[in-house]
Amino acid sequence: MHIDRRAFLATLGSAAVVEAMSPEARADALEHYMIAQLDKPAAPPAQPLVVRRGAGALFGGPSPSGQRPELTALAAMPERPTLVDFIRFRGTPGIGNHILQSANDALRKGESEETVLACLLHDFVLNLMKPDHGWWGAQLMEPYVPEKVSWAIRHHQALRFYPDPSVGYEYPELYVRIFGKDYVPAPYIKASYEYARKHKWYMEARMITVHDLYAFEPGMKVAIDPFVDIIGRHFKQPKEGLGFDGSPVAHMWRTLNYPDNPL
Ligand SMILES: [Fe+2]
Ligand SMILES: [Fe+2]
Repeated sequence: MHIDRRAFLATLGSAAVVEAMSPEARADALEHYMIAQLDKPAAPPAQPLVVRRGAGALFGGPSPSGQRPELTALAAMPERPTLVDFIRFRGTPGIGNHILQSANDALRKGESEETVLACLLHDFVLNLMKPDHGWWGAQLMEPYVPEKVSWAIRHHQALRFYPDPSVGYEYPELYVRIFGKDYVPAPYIKASYEYARKHKWYMEARMITVHDLYAFEPGMKVAIDPFVDIIGRHFKQPKEGLGFDGSPVAHMWRTLNYPDNPL
């Protein structure tokens, strides 16, 4: 995907605002910007921000350009909703396109089913919450997926910033252009990377970042159908439905189910 550096920076606000953002916040803004480009309306209205940028897309959280998704009526969810129901009915289109493209790239290139699942789930949580989305996303999925899948989702956040030529993952040229040559990740990101680098599951997280590079194609639509069986084999769908199984993260799924509840 071509990124217009000027257009992207302009979306962040004044030079002083950009300067004040941490590099992580800028990197997250870039990822969200790219996702937003996948689902760009013809004439994006410039609206003043009325919620924090970190609000999830399902709640109208703005893209870095300040575009806010149109909040249309949501489809009713089944009584016992499954992961596929959440992806279909509670995932916003830009994020949905990105994660499906990512999983599709992994599938096409012959990755294991667990890696395909990790790619499919890696950014789903952006519908709920944006800051530290690797950690939030891992927690959301943890009770239901193989441990290495949630581990990979957690660590993809830090690995984005560190090259690994062994699998063709270079430090994104785009990051050099946008964040400057001197960017140094925050200590907690660096620590997460260093921990992951030595871990036996390092490659599980690394491959999320590799397939992510091929998951920003505007206009490319990938159906969820090819992934339904993979989900069935590796995602422990609770019989009560996600949100109603008493798990430590059930409330997070319920928040996605009922985003209009006032309290
Ligand atoms: Fe991500
Ligand atoms: Fe991503």
